[in-house]
Amino acid sequence: MKKYFLRLIFLSLFGGIIMPVQAENVKPGTCHSYKIQGNKVIFDCEYNIQVQIEDVGSGILKIWYDTDGFKRNNESFAVIKKGDGNSHLNISEQPGSYEIYTGELIVRIEKSPFQIRVYDKYQKLLMEDFLDMGFVVDSTQMSSYKTLKPGEHIYGLGEKNGPLDRVGSRLKMWNSDKPCYSVNEDPLYKSIPFFMSSSGYGIFFDNTYKTTYDFGVESDNYYSFSTPGGEMEYYFIYGPTYKQIISGYTKLTGQPIMPPAWALGFAQCRGMLTNEQLTREIAKGYRDREIPCDIIYQDIGWTQNLQDFEWRDGNYENPAKMLSDLESEGFKVIVSQNPIISQTNKSQWHEADSLGYFATDVRSGKTYDMPWPWGGNCGVVDFSNPEVADWWGNYQQKVLDVGVRGFWTDMGEPAWSNEESFDRLSMKHHLGMHDEIHNVYGLIWDKIVTQQFEKHNPNTRIFQMTRAAFAGMQRYTFGWSGDAGNGNDVTDGWNQLAAQLPIALSAGMGGIPFWATDISGYCGDITDYGAMRELYVRWLQFGAFNPLSRIHHEGNNAVEPWLFGEEAEQIAKTTIELKYQLFPYIYTYAREAHDTGLPLMRALMLEYPDDPEAANLDSEFMFGEELLVAPVMEEGAAFKRIYLPEGEWLDFNDPANAFTGNQWIEYPVELETIPMFVKRGSIIPQMPVMQFIGEKADYPLLLSVFPAGINKSAKFEVYEDDGETNNYKSDIFVKRKIQCLAKRTGLEIGFKAIDSNGFRVRSRDLVYQVYMERKPTSVHLSDKKLKTFKVKKSENILPDTIEKAEWSWDEVSGACLIRIPASLVGEPIVIEK
Ligand code: NOJ
Repeated sequence: MKKYFLRLIFLSLFGGIIMPVQAENVKPGTCHSYKIQGNKVIFDCEYNIQVQIEDVGSGILKIWYDTDGFKRNNESFAVIKKGDGNSHLNISEQPGSYEIYTGELIVRIEKSPFQIRVYDKYQKLLMEDFLDMGFVVDSTQMSSYKTLKPGEHIYGLGEKNGPLDRVGSRLKMWNSDKPCYSVNEDPLYKSIPFFMSSSGYGIFFDNTYKTTYDFGVESDNYYSFSTPGGEMEYYFIYGPTYKQIISGYTKLTGQPIMPPAWALGFAQCRGMLTNEQLTREIAKGYRDREIPCDIIYQDIGWTQNLQDFEWRDGNYENPAKMLSDLESEGFKVIVSQNPIISQTNKSQWHEADSLGYFATDVRSGKTYDMPWPWGGNCGVVDFSNPEVADWWGNYQQKVLDVGVRGFWTDMGEPAWSNEESFDRLSMKHHLGMHDEIHNVYGLIWDKIVTQQFEKHNPNTRIFQMTRAAFAGMQRYTFGWSGDAGNGNDVTDGWNQLAAQLPIALSAGMGGIPFWATDISGYCGDITDYGAMRELYVRWLQFGAFNPLSRIHHEGNNAVEPWLFGEEAEQIAKTTIELKYQLFPYIYTYAREAHDTGLPLMRALMLEYPDDPEAANLDSEFMFGEELLVAPVMEEGAAFKRIYLPEGEWLDFNDPANAFTGNQWIEYPVELETIPMFVKRGSIIPQMPVMQFIGEKADYPLLLSVFPAGINKSAKFEVYEDDGETNNYKSDIFVKRKIQCLAKRTGLEIGFKAIDSNGFRVRSRDLVYQVYMERKPTSVHLSDKKLKTFKVKKSENILPDTIEKAEWSWDEVSGACLIRIPASLVGEPIVIEK
């Protein structure tokens, strides 16, 4: 299409003889014929414009405007779903229009002027080209305009600043590195050109150039997406629910990787965490204080030269020993990598240069000379050159071989580039010029890191966390939101903290369910730890509910949880412990995210799409379907205003405290409070606190039951697999299904473990914690009446082993505790009121 684009301008400037056009606003005009090719229909319109509508299956249509035979410079970087050939595409022609039927959708096309409308099979209008502006070319860009209906909401575009509802925003895609980015900064590091409309559909604009999106800023009547290059090729994804749209996007661009279990534990980092002594000290600090932690990161200074994957001389005495010692303490080490080779690293630079592995400068034909924040100027590794993959894979494998567990792929914008860096546009990559490759540079790198990891380490799950990426990144990597925080005054990062929540929620809806913030905010020197205490605690309370929880800060600013005073340490410890206790719940939702693309942290509009209060609510979130979390993000807060949607909600911190839904409440908070609510009719599986995931293999499960109303059931299916390998892909896992039916006379609890399929299922003792209004009269296991036990004051609610089935009433919390040894877990329980 690019060629056409230029010719169009030429014709308009010089008055073309064949078809004079105006420089502005070339559109398809009248469509005069069509042909069917398999699951595609191609319409021929004016100015040689052809419009292809392809039924990709699963309610997804690909719509493509072109003039040169539907060729792309490159195959899509993001899309993996091809038409499945099963589509039943029918077309009928009327005098003024065509209608295409896919089974699920009806596409009605006006012939003159050309206009596309998409309806569901009940004739409900979903998406409509705005008048004849479904495709408009002017001298600078190609655009598509769609009608914006009154009251329509638009969500998406991935990890971006701003209100969740994008109506009223103009945003763009250009992976940018802006340290200490403001709360209004756009673009940020990632480009996810996918959004969803409340009219029941999503759009994925499959274009890697610097695309722009105007959602009702230019006019209340339409929204538009535009590109300066590449193809006007987009996918219409039918829902109608947001969850179904996300699932469609996931089918189109791929499933999120399943994290190793330990990835969902806590992680510690800092900019100068780049040596053995400090790493060991921090690890010891955690274990001495019994604060759970699974991962220690090494920031980029760990390596001798960028990017030779050699441990920095003098910083590491014996890396292999350090790694194995840390492993024996339950720590995994993740190291940073940058996608460049520094010129100071002469031999590797010459190696890559002579092999043609660098992006070149189109002006000189030589390796592009990129200034880099550290290590001097560098060559930018051209990951789009297929020969680079094995070369890079062998380098990165050096550290995996000695025990590193994964990578933190940083600076892949490539870094220090933003829109003002025009010089970068002279970079030529194997697959194209930089304007096309820029936004996918990080994605291509991430892909190689993962594919090479998998090649060298078969049947092991990748851990990769990245900053810059494009749609489809979820197939290779997790994401984090980079350098937030207030660099001028570190203690004044409250706005930056609050802005992280909508960023997380939007990222989650754009294929980044496994996401992290830098707990403490990355930017700003911490000189007064007392003054930083409150912000640190609040950031940590939010970060604990990020699927990946990592404490990180710039430079040598130490941000371990014990540095901000005793109270902060105690709160941090309890908060981190809570995350570990919730692990069975979190891991179950991690599997769901892998299967469906649905995030763990969910904007309320995802779960309550019809609730107008939820439409733009970004100060709280659902954590899975059962828990609502409303982290405090305001300095000195004594209350948090919280919206509770339909249903009945119990205070997770004090379940006797119940609230009816559909209302705002003012919830009193102390520094240690994380407002959390559980929906009545839920079961929350938990495990004992561990210092790291997997510390105790034979842990008992705690099942906190919040019974539903009479004749209704609370249910949960706890997912478990080996946590490390890819055997889960062969259905080697176990699901423990728990159900609690509420009757007038009491409660009936059932338990079943299924789907083991060769999985070595660990038998688990169970403790049910059933919240009830009053003490039951009796508890039966099958037809046996159980005896009661007394909970001793200091006793853990989850004992290490359970010998016999028995129950107790906990007056303080209002819960009936039932202990069931593993051998009896399948037997039905009846609790009589
Ligand atoms: C930029 C990253 O965003 C930051 O987290 C990291 O500490 C620095 N690069 C240094 O590697």
